[in-house]
Amino acid sequence: MSETFMNDYRQKIDDCLKNLLPDAATYPPEIHQAMRYSLFAGGKRLRPILCLSAVKACGDDVVKALPASCALEAIHTYSLIHDDLPGMDNDDYRRGKPTNHKVFGEGLAILAGDGLLTLAFEWLSDLAEKEYYPAEQIVKVIKRLAFASGVLGMVGGQSADLLAENKTPDENVLRYIHSHKTGALISASVEIGGLLANANEQEMTALRIYGEHVGLAYQITDDILDIIGDADKIGKPIGSDLKNHKATFPALFGINQSQEIAREAVLKALAALENLSGATEELRYLAQSLVEREA
Ligand code: IPE
Ligand code: IPE
Ligand code: MG
Ligand code: MG
Ligand code: MG
Repeated sequence: MSETFMNDYRQKIDDCLKNLLPDAATYPPEIHQAMRYSLFAGGKRLRPILCLSAVKACGDDVVKALPASCALEAIHTYSLIHDDLPGMDNDDYRRGKPTNHKVFGEGLAILAGDGLLTLAFEWLSDLAEKEYYPAEQIVKVIKRLAFASGVLGMVGGQSADLLAENKTPDENVLRYIHSHKTGALISASVEIGGLLANANEQEMTALRIYGEHVGLAYQITDDILDIIGDADKIGKPIGSDLKNHKATFPALFGINQSQEIAREAVLKALAALENLSGATEELRYLAQSLVEREA
C-alpha cells in the first residue's frame, strides 16, 4: 500500500467539490472567492479520504459517497477559517497561504465559514433528493455530522480550547478538548462512511473506535508539529500554541511521551480494524502514516 490511493481520492474530491459549489461568478462574487480560496488552498483532505476508505472497508461504492465526503471537508475548512480568526488563534498562515481574514477581512472570513458549514448540509440533503441513497439513511448521516460539528462535538471542543488558554493544563480537560475539537469530526468521517455503506452494528462500533483513536493521535501529532515541525511543510506557523498558551499534549507530557501516547492510540485504532470484514488496507495505511507525518 502506498500514497497513490490518497492522491486518487484527492483528485476525485477536488473535482466533486468544484461541481458542488455554486458558480464562482454568483453574486456577490467576493464570498464565493473567499470560500474557494480556503477550500482549494491545498488541504490534505484527510476527513473525506477517511470517509471513502471506510466506505470501502464496508464493501460499498466509493464514487457514490463522494459528495457526502465533500461535506466533511466543507465543515473542516470552515472550522480552520474560524480557528485562525483574531478572536481565536489569531494566525496569519494556513495551508501555505495568508489566512482567509488576512485576504478578505474578518467579516467575509466569518461568512465564508458560515457559508461552507451550511452548504455541507445542503449537499447531504441533495443526496436523498436525487435518490442516491434512501432518505432515512441520509437523515442518519446528517444527524451524525450535526452532532460531531456542534456544541457537543467540535464547537464544544473549540470552546474548551479557548477557555483553557493561559491555565495550568489539566489532563481531563485536555482529553476533552482533543476528542471534541478534532476527534469528533474525524470519528464522524469514518462512521459516516459506515452509515453510507449500510454497515452493521459491529462494523459501526469498530469504525467509531478506530476514528476516536485516530482523532486523538492526529491532534497530538498536530501539537507536536506545532513545536518541532517545518512551517513550509505544514503550511502554517510553528509556535502558535505557545504564543496562545494552549493546553496541548506536549505542554503536559513533553514531546517523547506525547509521541508514545499517539503511537499507542494508533495501535488501538489498528486493533479495531480486525472487526471489519472488507478491504481495510487503506484505513490501516492512514492510521500508520499519520503519526509519522511531517505535514
Ligand atoms: C488541521 O487539520 C487542524 C486539526 C484539526 C489538527 P489538518 O492537518 O487536517 O489540515 P489540512 O486540512 O490538511 O489543512
Ligand atoms: C484546531 O486545532 C482544531 C479545529 C477544530 C480547527 P488547532 O488550532 O491546533 O489547529 P491548527 O494547528 O491551527 O491547524
Ligand atoms: Mg485552535
Ligand atoms: Mg489553530
Ligand atoms: Mg495546532
